[in-house]
Formats: sequence, structure tokens, C-alpha cells
Amino acid sequence: MMDAVLVGCGAMSKQWLDAARQVEGLRVVGLVDLDAERARARAHEYGLAGAVIGTSLDAILDQTKPQAVFDVVVPAARRDVALSAFAHHCHLLTEKPLADSPDNARAIVEAARRAGRVHAVVQNRRYVANVRRIRRFLSSGAIGAPTSIHADFFIAPHFGGFREEMAHVLLLDMAIHTFDAARYMVGGEPVSVYCQEWEPANSWYRQGSSASAVFDLGGGRLFTYAGSWCAVGFRTSWESTWRIVAERGSLLWDGNNDLRAEVVLPVRDGLLDQTQPIEVPPLDPADRIDGHLGIIRDFMHAIETGSEPETRGSDNIKSLAMVFGAIESAETGRRVAIA
Ligand SMILES: NC(=O)c1ccc[n+]([C@@H]2O[C@H](COP(=O)([O-])OP(=O)(O)OC[C@H]3O[C@@H](n4cnc5c(N)ncnc54)[C@H](O)[C@@H]3O)[C@@H](O)[C@H]2O)c1
Repeated sequence: MMDAVLVGCGAMSKQWLDAARQVEGLRVVGLVDLDAERARARAHEYGLAGAVIGTSLDAILDQTKPQAVFDVVVPAARRDVALSAFAHHCHLLTEKPLADSPDNARAIVEAARRAGRVHAVVQNRRYVANVRRIRRFLSSGAIGAPTSIHADFFIAPHFGGFREEMAHVLLLDMAIHTFDAARYMVGGEPVSVYCQEWEPANSWYRQGSSASAVFDLGGGRLFTYAGSWCAVGFRTSWESTWRIVAERGSLLWDGNNDLRAEVVLPVRDGLLDQTQPIEVPPLDPADRIDGHLGIIRDFMHAIETGSEPETRGSDNIKSLAMVFGAIESAETGRRVAIA
């Protein structure tokens, strides 16, 4: 049996608690929120009658002594939560983004290393069947090596709350999913980025609702991202829409169920090489999916076996470096090297 305390009982905590109750051997023994009423309401909603409720993570960890902390707080509170979890010898599974600044990201990853605890991030868009299929298909070489990756993200949600006030909202709060997926799909090591942010006249965000970025993903591969969180009409999927161009063909994914590829034929028709459709194989049974549930299972498996989870902080920080590189580029107007 593994005991966990969940901190941050806002909107996303429902997804965590929905997943957690499907995991055998996992018990949520405490719920923490600055607003105790919110934590109490979640305990009631999920039938967690035995869970200890509080507003101080330190106090609840002292009282319940769990093996793990589930961190679902806002990004600005993440560093304090992480340091508290490691100080109490807890493993930590944290919502994205891993941190709200490069310094805080390094401090959290270093604290996990020093504490010798498992630290993983809910980068749940990796745990999507078509993302897994794309990575396998591209690495099979069926259309040759990828040379450019293009993702579009255009949705106009009215969240209210912290997002409408934070700086660099699209890059810091959402683009991390798309950047991480791009890096994962093609096995890229980000080298540099040029990015521009803007605020459309109709934006209801304080800053950074819209951005365009061009990344050098290493190995001659370019990744372009175009996104907006206030583009009304023809919305894309939350996963973005994708075009991946490779040496001998291309792949299109609408971010939902439409995933197609074409491969070149050795026949030229006037100016153009002929192409034909090529099947993207179904999900491999070894590929882990199921979003939050899949990640919680992987996190527990890593703790039980002493292995490293796929979305470990020490790797996820490379995707976060793409975000901070893009932010620095947008602020300075220069291309930025990604360390
Ligand atoms: N993985 C995903 O697909 C996904 C989707 C949406 C949000 N998120 C992430 O989930 C996190 C939470 O987002 P949300 O939409 O639930 O926000 P929210 O504002 O609805 O909830 C956050 C909660 O954290 C509490 N809180 C803040 N600081 C705290 C602290 N120091 N101690 C205890 N409680 C504290 C707040 O009182 C609030 O109840 C964010 O990092 C967000 O980016 C992830």
C-alpha cells in the first residue's frame, strides 16, 4: 500500500483523484489547499472520509507520513511544495510545468537528486496513443528521418483564475505539452530558439496569449510552433495539429483520430514525385497510455522497482528549457541557445 498526500484541490485535482481511485494499492491520506473548504469538498466528493485536511503541507506531512506527494498547485507555488516534499523524504509527482523559472527548475531537480527520491512530471500528452504511434512510426524509418516538425495550437478558452494574470501564459502554461511532444516524437535535443509573442486586440489575457517559435531540434531538424489562446474559430485539438516532414514522406495528425502518412514513389509526374499512402501501425502493446492514470502508474512502478520514470524531472527539464528559451527570445528579440 502506498500513501499519498495531494496538495492543490482546484480544477485539475479532480482528474488526479479520478485516476488515483483506479490505482490499486494507492491511498490518498491527506488533502491540502490554502482554502481548506476546497480540500474538504474534494474529500467529500471522493468519499475520502479518512483523509486529513489542512492548509499547511508541512503539517499534514508530519501528521500522515506518506511515501508520496501529488502536487497540483499553481506553478508559482511549486518550488515550496517540492522542497517540503523532499524534506519529508517523499517521492514527488508534480503537475506541469515542473517549475515557473529556470532557477526554480534546477533547484527542484537538484533537491530530488540530493534526497534520492523519485521526481516525475505529469506531461500527460505523451501518454496519448497517437503520440506513441507517431514516435514508433518515425523511428521505424518508414518515411526516412524527420527533417521538420510543424505544430499549430489555436483554442480560445475562458479559464478565469491564475492564467489570465500570469506572464507568458501560452508558453509557460500550455506550450510545454506541445514542445515536449515534439521532442519526444522525433527524439530531438533542442539547440536554439527564436520566438515572438503578441497580444491580439481581442485578448482577455494579461500577457503572452499568442506566440510563434522556431526551434533547432538538432540533427538538421527544425520545429515550428504557432499558437494562440484567444483565436476564436476553427479551433484545433488540445494536442495541436501536426505536419511532420521526413526525407521520404510526410505525416499529418489532426490531434484527434485522423493520423495519415504518405511515402514517395520512384516515379515522377512532371515536376512532382508521386506519393502513396502508408499505414501508421496501431498502438504497440508495450506503449503506455492513459494520461494521468498512466503516469501515476508509472510513478508508482518506479518507486516500487527503483527505476526511473519516463517523465522524470531530470529529463523533463529539457522540455522546460525550450519554454524558458522561447520566453527569453521573446523578451530580448534574439535567437537564444538552449543549454
Ligand atoms: N496536465 C494537464 O493537462 C493540465 C491541465 C490543466 C492544468 N494543469 C496544471 O495543474 C496545475 C493546477 O491547475 P488548476 O487548473 O487546478 O489550478 P486551480 O487554480 O484551479 O487550482 C490550484 C489550487 O492550488 C491551491 N494552492 C495554490 N498554492 C498553494 C499552496 N502553496 N499550498 C496549497 N494549495 C495551494 C489553490 O488554492 C487552488 O485551489 C497547474 O500547474 C496547471 O498548469 C495541467
